[in-house]
Amino acid sequence: MSAAAKDQVVIFDTTLRDGEQSPGASMTLEEKLQVAELLDTMGVDVIEAGFPIASIGDFEAVCEIAKRSKNSVIAGLSRAIPADIDRAGEAVKFAERGRIHTFVSTSPIHLQYQMKKNEEEVLEIIRQTVSRARNLIDDVEWSAMDATRTSIEYLSRCVEAAIDAGATTINLPDTVGYAVPHEYQMMFEQIIKNVPNSDKAIFSVHCHNDLGLAVANSLAGVAGGARQIECTINGLGERAGNAALEEVVMAIRTRNDVLPYGCSVDPKYMTRASKLVSAVTSFPVQFNKAIVGKNAFAHESGIHQDGMLKHAETYEIMRPEDVGVRATSLVMGKHSGRAAFKDKLTELGYDLGDNAFQEAFRRFKDLADRKKNVYDEDIEALVEDEISVQGESVKVLSLTVIAGTGGPQKAILTMDVDGRHRTREANGDGPVDATFNAIKAIIPHEATLQLYQVHAVTEGTDAQAEVTVRLEDGGKIATGKGADTDTLVASARAYVSALNKLKVRRQREINVEDAIAS
Ligand code: KIV
Ligand code: ZN
Repeated sequence: MSAAAKDQVVIFDTTLRDGEQSPGASMTLEEKLQVAELLDTMGVDVIEAGFPIASIGDFEAVCEIAKRSKNSVIAGLSRAIPADIDRAGEAVKFAERGRIHTFVSTSPIHLQYQMKKNEEEVLEIIRQTVSRARNLIDDVEWSAMDATRTSIEYLSRCVEAAIDAGATTINLPDTVGYAVPHEYQMMFEQIIKNVPNSDKAIFSVHCHNDLGLAVANSLAGVAGGARQIECTINGLGERAGNAALEEVVMAIRTRNDVLPYGCSVDPKYMTRASKLVSAVTSFPVQFNKAIVGKNAFAHESGIHQDGMLKHAETYEIMRPEDVGVRATSLVMGKHSGRAAFKDKLTELGYDLGDNAFQEAFRRFKDLADRKKNVYDEDIEALVEDEISVQGESVKVLSLTVIAGTGGPQKAILTMDVDGRHRTREANGDGPVDATFNAIKAIIPHEATLQLYQVHAVTEGTDAQAEVTVRLEDGGKIATGKGADTDTLVASARAYVSALNKLKVRRQREINVEDAIAS
């Protein structure tokens, strides 16, 4: 059967909405534009670009992505509230093809405790809000929040009302990650069979990963008749995350014998998308993550290696190059010039602005002076670090640490704070503690450290360290990443990056409060 003749499954990416809602995963406008551009290029059918009513930043991001998108449909989320729907409509109207995605809860537990409304009242809300959206745009998606804990009878009535009011896609999410595959499949089969106008809409799955079943449930929903999968890069999302885009796409492609669907995403962009989302959110990808983890194609055991050398398919069900993994290569040394560095960045998929390029090149030369072998991974870590510090108002300039058995350890740190250089010394219980205390001396703050994690980018004792720091301040969480051959410098950069993100989030909220008050 040719791909064209197969049932097409719409890939709906919600990295920029459900993914970004994950605590600590917020992205700047520039970062969202980069992610959206890559999703658009890789063939994602629908990009959920944000929740326009949530903040001015969200609204601007959806407008800008809508203006720039070349191929994908751009969706904006809205609650079942007229002002939300209008705001989403205003944002997606710039897209060649825009979509309003509106949702309301349908489960008894949400109706009783969250909405304090009865079933008839919610049905009326569905009729009114979906038709309001449909009056603004032809492409309307309606979601039944907590569908998997809603009775089939009531869910059928809600779906019928939404389609009657003009919804063209019906999404039945497993909001709390509670379903198991066979019941999720059955839910779609029953709803599609029960609802008299079900042939007038595309059904969609949206699964959270609380029980580690999001991808399995998504594929089961498709077996039950759904033809849209909502997912995120790296499975980013609240709590345990959403179904991972790379996993659903590669499952369909690799097991097309039993999952006979077409899907338009080009998998060779997946590794890049995974790295980009990890870099802009500072959420590390677990080493053994399917498809995009560092070890996903590493065959360590002797038996496996022997089989692989004789015939790759003995142990390999997918080829690494299919998902955009390149063989590790020794790239350049200290004699490599600007042009060679630029070519390498292009090959790795980076297109830096002038300032970022000059700074990345300076850091590359510095790295090549200190490190014997510079690999692609080194350049990626350095460039991602550089991308994440662009536009930050606080930067690490220099750090000297006195460490060893004598104690107490001491750090002398100079930072650029809004264009002014500040230097402080601090002691600590270990060199990392001393470094973080020096940062606190320069920028006093209440944020507390929630995570400190170090990993080596490549092998060898001269490898760059990639450090992740997560900070919490008054319920707000921000994650920062830093890379350097000096673990303490990388630690300082990661801490400062998280602080900058907290500051941007606070500023964003102040702007929204001002806008609401005015
Ligand atoms: O998980 C969920 O129910 C959602 C809806 C807003 C679609 O994210
Ligand atoms: Zn969700």
